[in-house]
This record gives sequence, C-alpha cells and structure tokens, in this order.
Amino acid sequence: MGVDDPGRTGAPAPGDAGSTRASTERVALRVRRQASPSARPYWEAYVVEAPPGATVIALLLEIRRRPVTADGRPTTPVVWEMSCLEEVCGACTMLVNGRVRQACATLVAGLRRPIRLAPLTKFPVVRDLVVDRSVMFEQLKRIRAWVAIDGTAPRGPGPRFSEQLRQWGYELSKCMTCGACLEACPQYNPWTGFIGPTNLAWVDYFGLHPNARATQDERLDAVLAPGGVQTCANAQNCVRVCPKGVPLTEAIYRVKRAALVRGLRRWSES
Ligand code: SF4
Ligand code: FES
Repeated sequence: MGVDDPGRTGAPAPGDAGSTRASTERVALRVRRQASPSARPYWEAYVVEAPPGATVIALLLEIRRRPVTADGRPTTPVVWEMSCLEEVCGACTMLVNGRVRQACATLVAGLRRPIRLAPLTKFPVVRDLVVDRSVMFEQLKRIRAWVAIDGTAPRGPGPRFSEQLRQWGYELSKCMTCGACLEACPQYNPWTGFIGPTNLAWVDYFGLHPNARATQDERLDAVLAPGGVQTCANAQNCVRVCPKGVPLTEAIYRVKRAALVRGLRRWSES
C-alpha cells in the first residue's frame, strides 16, 4: 500500500459529525493492542483526522480523545509513554511501520498507509505500546555506570579534560536510553544475554572520566564476562537507528581494545 493511495480515504467516516476540513487528512492506522503483560495481542484499526505536519503522537492523542475504531465501534484509549515531545527522553520509542522510531518526532506525512504502530519487541509489553525497559537500567548497574565519590565536602575544581576528550564524551553522553539500538541489534536477544550497544558505549564514557577511571577495570571485567563485548558481531544496526547519533561502533571498538588489554593483563598476572 503506497503513500498516495489508501489511508487517505477522502470521505468522512460513517457517523462522523461535520465535514473534513480542507487542511486536514484522514489517516488510516493500525495499533497492536495488548491489555496486560499476559494478554493476547491483537491489531485494531482507526481512521484519524490529522492536521498538516502532524506527528504519530498527534494521531495517538486523537485516538485518546475519541476512542473509536475504524468501523465506528467504541474502544479503550490506546496506552503509550511520552514525556519531552522533542526526542530527548526516549519514552515514546516504538515500531512505526516496523521501524524503531520516536513517535513524537515522526511525521505522519510520507509514512506508508495504513500506519502500523507496535511496541518494541525486545522488551516485555506492559500494555499496548508501553514496554518495560528496566533491564537497561539494571545493566547500567552491572557496568558500574557512575562516578564513585568518597564524600561530599567541597574539594575545589575537578580534574581537567582535554577538549578532544570532552567532545568525545559529549557525543557518548547524548544517549537517552531509548532502547532503539537494542531493538535493532540481532545479537541482543534472550539467548546471548548480550549487554547491548549502549552499555558498551557507557563503559567507554566512564573510562574517559579521570575520577571514574579508577574503577574502569571493574567495568572491563563486567564486559569480559559472558554476554559482554565479545558478543557484539559488528552488525552495525545500532549506529544506523540511534536517533541521537551516538558513535556506537567506534565506542564499541574502543571498549573491545581496552577489554583485550585488560584480559591480557589479567592472564599475565594469574
Ligand atoms: S545509544 Fe542511541 S539508540 Fe541506543 S539507547 Fe542510546 S540513544 Fe537510544
Ligand atoms: S516523548 Fe520524549 S522522545 Fe518522544
């Protein structure tokens, strides 16, 4: 089905009050619904009035305002997550026509009709388009993704960074924990136990920080364990889908190199 044909049904839906405004478009979409983590998923169709420049979130808001299916049946409002509405928090990450995207930053124009919205597949579904991404935060604990402090008393200015390191750290720090890179990574699945691209990039990030570097060996030990850096098969899907342009493949390469040195050191000391 192409952009130019269906979904853009020109006529008002049966029972619709009022006429279609010239500036709006009737958009057909299908949403994969699931009432609870254990419930059976199913697809539900809608036809929604969308103004020019509408995003996918605007369609969902319209369904929330008027929860009626394409055939005029009242239904429950679709549930999804959102916060920033400007591609900063990652909460609205979902599959739009099978592609992982942020619904708040995805324009309706140009999307194949009917637009299909589904939850991410690599995380447990909580309800409809909401998934439980807490595994990502658990993995941050595994790699000690923090700077340990030994007190809160003021100690003057912190250590200085070179401009080059600061810039690299800034690129890595753009990650918003959206999960898109995990969704796209073929190695991130229940069988490999892979820690995922974003967490490897965080290992590189904390290895840069003069205060966090003291515990970098513990992070490298974590990524030398099963499911760690050796599980990456260099598919490079992660870097293609990352909405923040985090240089994942380069960061993973740097962590692979550091982990190799750490592994050799451990072997020579044993
Ligand atoms: S690295 Fe990119 S794709 Fe992966 S979680 Fe962070 S922002 Fe999302
Ligand atoms: S609502 Fe924050 S990224 Fe979409």
